[in-house]
Amino acid sequence: MARVLIIIGSRREGNSTLFGKKLKEALKKERISADTITPGNQKIYLCTGCMDCDENGICDFKDDMIENVEKVNSAEYLIFITPTRWNLLSGDLKIFMDRLNPLYASRKLEGKKLIAIAIGSKKKEEYSTDGAVTSLGSFADSSGMKLVYHKQFNECLKYNDILNQEENLTKTIEEIKKIIKAS
Ligand SMILES: Cc1cc2nc3c(=O)[nH]c(=O)nc-3n(C[C@H](O)[C@H](O)[C@H](O)COP(=O)(O)O)c2cc1C
Repeated sequence: MARVLIIIGSRREGNSTLFGKKLKEALKKERISADTITPGNQKIYLCTGCMDCDENGICDFKDDMIENVEKVNSAEYLIFITPTRWNLLSGDLKIFMDRLNPLYASRKLEGKKLIAIAIGSKKKEEYSTDGAVTSLGSFADSSGMKLVYHKQFNECLKYNDILNQEENLTKTIEEIKKIIKAS
């Protein structure tokens, strides 16, 4: 199982997916294998908050989260790439995070390293991607994970606008590679 798990918060073949693909290719060149999940394209039921998993660490739903939970459990690094939505993270990621409560309940998220990438269409001065990064950071904090790196890409509206920020893109991927290689 890959020790790096990339979780993409957008269903479209847009900026988040592009970033994830480029990162995965770069890691592969360093012989670091990474798995990618796009929760929005999977079958994932909404958490009902029944709290059964607090008792036994198991969710009653039978859907794609069974495999996802195994992948998250085996990963050392979770790399969340989110489009900014209303100054927050994407809803697809929030649904995914809620369904990780079985791992939280059995304290299996503790000590994992989280990397947060937020992409948005607004300008840096509008601070919109800040909210997306903060929400991922709060998730890390409250689940006992460590936010080891975060980066924001602004002014990305259309599908592949992130490719206009070549320098930032390359630098970010290099920095992530360096962190993972050092561990
Ligand atoms: C419902 C919705 C809300 C959005 N809200 C914001 C926002 O608050 N701030 C922002 O900078 N961009 C916002 N955007 C734009 C997306 O973050 C932007 O297009 C991003 O590049 C999408 O990533 P993707 O290409 O990976 O889907 C919003 C887009 C949608 C669909």
